[in-house]
Amino acid sequence: MLDKLLNRRSHRAFKNEKIDFNDLELIKKATLQSPTAGNLTLYSIIEIEDIKIKEKLSILCDNQPMIKQAPHIWIFLADFHRWLKLFEYSNTAEKSKTKIRSTGLGDLHLALQDTIIASQTATIAIDELGYGSCYIGDIIENFEEIQKLLKLPPQVVPATMLIFGKPKKHLKEPLCRPDIDTIFFTDTYKEQSKKDLFRTYEKHTQRAKNNNTLPFENNGTIADQFYYRKFSTKFMEEMNRSTKVFMDKWCNIISKE
Ligand SMILES: Cc1cc2nc3c(=O)[nH]c(=O)nc-3n(C[C@H](O)[C@H](O)[C@H](O)COP(=O)(O)O)c2cc1C
Repeated sequence: MLDKLLNRRSHRAFKNEKIDFNDLELIKKATLQSPTAGNLTLYSIIEIEDIKIKEKLSILCDNQPMIKQAPHIWIFLADFHRWLKLFEYSNTAEKSKTKIRSTGLGDLHLALQDTIIASQTATIAIDELGYGSCYIGDIIENFEEIQKLLKLPPQVVPATMLIFGKPKKHLKEPLCRPDIDTIFFTDTYKEQSKKDLFRTYEKHTQRAKNNNTLPFENNGTIADQFYYRKFSTKFMEEMNRSTKVFMDKWCNIISKE
């Protein structure tokens, strides 16, 4: 298990076949056994089978064709709707002589933690059984269209998405990560010097140099690449817009736009 974690890779290209049914059930069971705040299971997971929905997701998630080709797609949703309905069906407000309050950002944060922890359990189980997966963070874009496409009720928002299946080719070499001491601090946050910060991502810069993917040839760094390829792009602008919409809706804030 630890060996699998230390050598883990994301896989994006899969054989055109489903994984074994019993394995899928095991992955679901393991996912549900994840730690969950107050044992509440504050999430739902939608398994996408419909090719038309797969195609739409491919476009809505920053035009990534691998999504519609993936044999399995799971969308992980932070879900307070279920508990609000349970309050209603249990007459909880009447019994406690109170009004059910609006859901707030703390509720959302907790539900997102629950949901993302479950998604990571799923990735570990998928790897453990010899399959491969890749997160699709772009599921938090285009919230209004995703909400319509998946028929999401209020207080249900996308946290993340996983595509998975049998990899066409198992990737064996793990990608570089920062050194332990550049990420793990003791007792308090450690502000890093310019030199330390460059050291944190020096392997990433070297790899990008080797792959000729840096935007500036001679003095380019991984920061330039992140800035040009992600931070200043339309898709990250959309991610920020869409996230604000679903967070505002979650908190019952009506947008003036
Ligand atoms: C929150 C999150 C969102 C991600 N979104 C995407 C995505 O939309 N498309 C994609 O190809 N990979 C996506 N990935 C995969 C990362 O690109 C990948 O984990 C990273 O490049 C490191 O590679 P590795 O997982 O093979 O070590 C995402 C990963 C995470 C954790």
